[in-house]
Amino acid sequence: MEAAEKEEISVEDEAVDKTVFRDCSKIAFYRRQKQQLSKKTTYQALLGSVTTEQDSTRFQIISDATKTPLLAEVYGIEKNIFRLKINEETPLKPRYEVPDVITSKLGTVRLVSCSGDAGSLTLTDGKGDLKCHISANPFRIDLVSESEAVISINSLGQLYFEHLQTPRRQRATQGNEESAPADTSQENQEDLGLWEEKFGKFVDVKANGPSSIGLDFSFHGFEHLYGIPQHAESHQLKNTRDGDAYRLYNLDVYGYQIHDKMGIYGSVPYLLAHKQGRTVAIFWLNASETLVEINTEPAVEHTLTQMGPAAAKQKVRCRTDVRWMSESGIIDVFLLTGPTPSDIFKQYSSLTGTQAMPPLFSLGYHQCRWNYEDEQDVKAVDAGFDEHDIPYDVMWLDIEHTEDKKYFTWDKKRFANPRRMQELLRSKKRKLVVISDPHIKVDPDYSVYAKAKEQGFFVKNPEGGDFQGVCWPGLSSYLDFTNPKVREWYSSLFAFSVYQGSTDILFIWNDMNEPSVFRGPELTMQKNVIHYGNWEHRELHNIYGFYQQMATAEGLIQRSKGKERPFVLSRSFFAGSQKYGAVWTGDNTAEWKYLKISIPMLLTLSVSGISFCGADVGGFIGNPEAELLVRWYQAGAYQPFFRGHATMNTKRREPWLFGEEYTRRIREAIRERYTLLPYLYSLFYRVHTFSEPVMRPLWVEFPNDLETFGVDDEYMLGSALLVHPVTEPQTTAADVFLPGSTEVWYDSKTFAQWKGGCTVKIPVTLDTIPVFQRGGSVVPIKTSVGKSTGWMTDSPYGLRVALSTQASAEGELYLDDGHSFQYLHQDQFSRRSFSFCSGVLTNRCADGKGHYPSKCIVEQILVLGLREKPSSVTTHSSDGKVQPAAFTYYDKTSALSLERLSLSVVDDWEVHIR
Ligand code: NOJ
Repeated sequence: MEAAEKEEISVEDEAVDKTVFRDCSKIAFYRRQKQQLSKKTTYQALLGSVTTEQDSTRFQIISDATKTPLLAEVYGIEKNIFRLKINEETPLKPRYEVPDVITSKLGTVRLVSCSGDAGSLTLTDGKGDLKCHISANPFRIDLVSESEAVISINSLGQLYFEHLQTPRRQRATQGNEESAPADTSQENQEDLGLWEEKFGKFVDVKANGPSSIGLDFSFHGFEHLYGIPQHAESHQLKNTRDGDAYRLYNLDVYGYQIHDKMGIYGSVPYLLAHKQGRTVAIFWLNASETLVEINTEPAVEHTLTQMGPAAAKQKVRCRTDVRWMSESGIIDVFLLTGPTPSDIFKQYSSLTGTQAMPPLFSLGYHQCRWNYEDEQDVKAVDAGFDEHDIPYDVMWLDIEHTEDKKYFTWDKKRFANPRRMQELLRSKKRKLVVISDPHIKVDPDYSVYAKAKEQGFFVKNPEGGDFQGVCWPGLSSYLDFTNPKVREWYSSLFAFSVYQGSTDILFIWNDMNEPSVFRGPELTMQKNVIHYGNWEHRELHNIYGFYQQMATAEGLIQRSKGKERPFVLSRSFFAGSQKYGAVWTGDNTAEWKYLKISIPMLLTLSVSGISFCGADVGGFIGNPEAELLVRWYQAGAYQPFFRGHATMNTKRREPWLFGEEYTRRIREAIRERYTLLPYLYSLFYRVHTFSEPVMRPLWVEFPNDLETFGVDDEYMLGSALLVHPVTEPQTTAADVFLPGSTEVWYDSKTFAQWKGGCTVKIPVTLDTIPVFQRGGSVVPIKTSVGKSTGWMTDSPYGLRVALSTQASAEGELYLDDGHSFQYLHQDQFSRRSFSFCSGVLTNRCADGKGHYPSKCIVEQILVLGLREKPSSVTTHSSDGKVQPAAFTYYDKTSALSLERLSLSVVDDWEVHIR
């Protein structure tokens, strides 16, 4: 182990050292914006300058202070989206506009002016009910629906835009001090960090000077906001009035503090606002450091005494103001107008893409630790799962599998024969994931380093040489993934012929890609290093990791000649990362509060487009007691990405190391996950195709039920299952809120029925957590569990039918080969739709398209909520054959069980229950 590495590990052993990271008061652009805003600058739109281009309406805006015009552009975008861009009209040099995030297919809609005068202009796309009303002086925009403003822009007059200036030195030599800020005293300049900003021992020298932007938005009638991951915070965003703003700045924060607004590994500058009857959202497309302030003004009733009894009361709706501030770039903001949560999800994914369809194996259980020591260790752990009859799909290798942390290599002693190891896993129908970080060890004999250096593929320092920083391998350079050529080359490194020892069961984990730089400011890259196109790191910091995951996913696709779906887990992410794979919540701790916070953290990612997400099961740092570990497995089994992971120097914690009673519980949790895979995989198809999050906060499923808006200790998995993880030690009863006054809910273990619209106390043992199936749903399952997903391809299905109060139910099953892209190009899939109505359960093709030739049968059907014992049950196949089916009816639970059926899962059939 290198000295540098040792030092870093000992630093990491401590709790978060807050002095390493900046809070708002230490961020110069925040201080500048605050100072300037107190001076109340007014912007005016020059509506006389309006021009209408093919797809946008443009006009100038000008502040009473600088008089230098900004150019505003308003676009209408398909699916009821408005886009506003504000940039300098004639900047000294181009300002950064985030590329590669917006899907190329973006369809614009022509906005036409429907009314206006010198003082205002109203635009409409002629379709939706929303109009865009622009007021000239002061400049403001209102999105108006039925004459009520829904969202206003700059209604608080907090538009802020720092124009690029000639560098100080140049100005001095030119004898031109005109555009310098009014207060040029040394002290003030330092405090405002215009050209230079100090933080501890670090000095950020800003070649382009100050370039910050900001804008306020008001949501009228809204007080529930969500989104802007990643923070270890509640799902519902909090007021920031009395504390720090939410910070979006990708950072490596080992053992991050919970209930904190500091930035951690990833950023999605996307915020949703919800109220009964409408959901809207803002997507602030900016990849520089960003801060978000939130302030809710509650509803008030004014009594107007002078106006007589008729007009005695006036109600002012509540309002939430959100102010976005970014260090750099332009204002480029999308307003998504809903009106439903499901519209919002579709609108956002039309901008940034939908969740990639994962290979089926990646929905199984993943076993990771830093580190599995050697091939022998891998073999023993793998065998342990079989011995204890616990399914698992993927073995993971952390950084120690490499030679001196040189990615794409293998430690010759520990992993002398990586192919042999993979063949063993392959024989068990399992996979391997190995880590590949963005830092590359400075070592001329390391071919990845030598080739990248030769081609100029590293991020550069301001002097033009390769940037070097310290990370796991010691001194390292960092690949500049923002360069398409670097991405192309990096992708090519995953070719089987290039990546020695790799096989087609090996998949990839991108870590430390915020990027993490051990001795850098806030443990990341200094902001003035230079990327492709001569852009400073400050412009694009938050998108660096996104690009690595993009290049890795592309590499895995290419190595299979375009045939196979990739699997890539990334720690850092940005808006749109969902297109490239999965993310996780980084270095959490083996404490109950981290298990608890994982739920809101995953819900926030899920509503922000990233459905394939998870938290390290057991907690990465420290040693979980057996009870916590069991509870974590039980929660993780119902979360999209399900991986156990532990840091170095923690005790081994494979599921069988805590005594038979605990092994049994963990086994049951993991087996329940495998039972539910058909449902989960179908949910992934739906998020991939229809943008519906896999894991959903209750408000998404019950958008008119106020009581759901703040719930984040339980959630829906799809629309059918409500999951309430146990996150406290020694729990004997859980208070479970069952939403929807017209709903009926079924305890998935006891089948007990509960009416919705109330909180119920559910007794719990350490064996299970409360999970409820919603009346009106059909959940497809597998009736037996194999060693891994690969062993379950042909195993039979079961259907769990939970009847609504109307005695009906609906559900869906998606199936395909589980690994290739054939479902896309050749319709090699089936979507089956199940519906139960008037005592008849039907299985039909959901879309008339897919024809996947599955040999599987449905062997079991469980109907919950059937009021009377039926006198006969018959199966009816599409060729007219009618057969009686054996059944058992349980009076106590009103459940009907049909066993030993043999109905093809992909054929049409009916089951008549009379
Ligand atoms: C940090 C990651 O968050 C963690 O999961 C990993 O084990 C270590 N880096 C070592 O690679």
